[in-house]
Amino acid sequence: MKIKKLMLGAALLATLPVAAQDYTITVQATKPGAPVQPTMYGIFFEDINYAADGGLYAELVKNRSFEFQPDPLMGWQAFGKVTIMNDGPFDKNPHYARLSSAGHGDWWTGLQNEGFFGIGLKRNADYRFSVWARVPDGKAQVLRVQFCDEYTLDEHQEFASKDLRIDSKEWKKYTLVMRSPITIDQAQLRLFLCDENGRSGTGTVDVEHVSLFPVDTWNGHENGMRKDLAQALYDMRPGVFRFPGGCIVEGVTLENRYNWKNSVGPVENRPLNKNRWESTFTYRYYPDYFQSYGLGFYEFFLLSEELGSEPLPVLNVGMACQYQNWNDDAAHAPATAEGLKEYIDDCIDLIEFANGSTDTKWGKLRAEMGHPAPFNMKFIGIGNEQWDDYYFKRVKIVADAVRKAHPEIKIIGTSGPNSEGGEFDRGWRAMKEQKADLVDEHFYRPVSWFQNEWERYDLYDRTGPKVFAGEYACHARGKKWNHANASIYEAAFMTGLERNADIVHMATYAPLFAHVNGWQWRPDAIWFDNLRVAKTTSYYVQALYAQNKGTHVLPVTNSNFPEKGADGVLASAVTDKGTGETIVKVANTFDQPRTVAIKLEGKKQLANVTAIALDLSGGDQENTVEEPNLIVPVTSTLKADGNVINVTLPAKTFVVYKAK
Ligand code: AHR
Repeated sequence: MKIKKLMLGAALLATLPVAAQDYTITVQATKPGAPVQPTMYGIFFEDINYAADGGLYAELVKNRSFEFQPDPLMGWQAFGKVTIMNDGPFDKNPHYARLSSAGHGDWWTGLQNEGFFGIGLKRNADYRFSVWARVPDGKAQVLRVQFCDEYTLDEHQEFASKDLRIDSKEWKKYTLVMRSPITIDQAQLRLFLCDENGRSGTGTVDVEHVSLFPVDTWNGHENGMRKDLAQALYDMRPGVFRFPGGCIVEGVTLENRYNWKNSVGPVENRPLNKNRWESTFTYRYYPDYFQSYGLGFYEFFLLSEELGSEPLPVLNVGMACQYQNWNDDAAHAPATAEGLKEYIDDCIDLIEFANGSTDTKWGKLRAEMGHPAPFNMKFIGIGNEQWDDYYFKRVKIVADAVRKAHPEIKIIGTSGPNSEGGEFDRGWRAMKEQKADLVDEHFYRPVSWFQNEWERYDLYDRTGPKVFAGEYACHARGKKWNHANASIYEAAFMTGLERNADIVHMATYAPLFAHVNGWQWRPDAIWFDNLRVAKTTSYYVQALYAQNKGTHVLPVTNSNFPEKGADGVLASAVTDKGTGETIVKVANTFDQPRTVAIKLEGKKQLANVTAIALDLSGGDQENTVEEPNLIVPVTSTLKADGNVINVTLPAKTFVVYKAK
């Protein structure tokens, strides 16, 4: 790897006279054009691939409220005498477990949770265990809380253990903090019912909302995010944060849609929802995939704020997933103001939740949850990836009502799942007629598509809504895999997004996260297991754009712009009015190096040219949780010839040049 890095640095330093170069990229460095929107490069979050429960949401207990269906003990092993009851303290999650005497001093009652593909614990880290519990007959008992490794060959399976005395007849939250002496990626949480002397319990303890979080979450929030995963998002510097999806917004049925109102308020009483990705692919089936809504809309807004991103919620337009319910009006709410009232209210109430004063119903709830100041939401997506009259009729009714109540909010419509063609054109036409502010386009496409679309946005209508490239990825060789080779096409294509920042106002690669043991869809930007993270080359492409987005587009001409369908050297440039830098992004998609002269017109002698290069020549190579740093950006400095940066761009390489 070291050798590779040195060679890359040397190649970037090569100089040739301008005339001899394969490409001349001319940047009008003193003629800033359209502003680059702060939202230009962002992230798309959906609870797919265990991105929320089992992923970013740091809860380590699966099925903490005993609500999974059809088996309320899914994720748990019960032993001794355990009964599932349904008259618990939280009306929307009524089930709980009753632990009673096992009937003999040498028998034990208890529960063991398997976590999400195991429970990941780190040596010397603290974990906060909490449980709602009571002793219904008033006889105090002890819950022995243990971290275990049931597969160990050691004498003891448990490697941490603490006792929690339960003495209240009424439901009460009990908490303890336990340190893990070891690092382990697949531990279990075990609870024993004991009497006050530590022997097998003879009384009864009811337990509900059994929870385990690392104390060290992102920004220390108790109902918080996994620190390493949130940090990976922060490091990207996303300008916009779209949530909560994706198809999950639509649901398999309307009842199954992501209902944001169920995702706010006390976590204990957020009703469970089946995750629509549980059953989407029978060849990757996850019967235990539910949404606890622990990562709900309050947490999404808070995270957006902490990442420095504009929050972009997408809400249901009164339609269940069109893919699955295509041509089925009965699957959608009636396309009338009355039929869509619930969905209109969802939008308007959400704006109140995010922005309303604390004396409004929803603004008050936001304040009670810990954020009296408004979240300053500016955008709303209405409907995900939907099309045709089914959508056009409904989005008009919902969007008109939202616009009337909140003209300050920008509305995002969608052009459906296709990147071109009849449906796509009709979608754009309808959105233009309806005066949507932005249109959300989706394109998961092969290399050949990207090669055909170098000029996509150069040729777009400048008079309509702005573009939100809301879900996209290059699905390269073997289709769905995180290949280095896919990322070079994403990098090259994105020069076209940037050149056209006058109409492209947002772009978010998708999906964002995938658990290595629980994915349904790939490629994804970030992979993880219970302890480790791998930022893919696609992640690094996104990060390089977002971290270097500048403030204004600079006009660029390319002496050798590629033909449709061909490989090429693609470029875009921006200036950053804050730092005074000129930033040029260049991608070489060829299998061979190309010499390039980057000429900054209007500048004289350039000082301090920094080159950040991402070598994507590895073909099928990818970063993995085992080898996360196989392909990472490498920074070097180089000298310019006056106002010209002469370089040999290695094969399949993306470079960001920054000059003052
Ligand atoms: O990103 C995965 C899925 O792709 C999204 O849920 C959906 O919008 C698209 O079809």
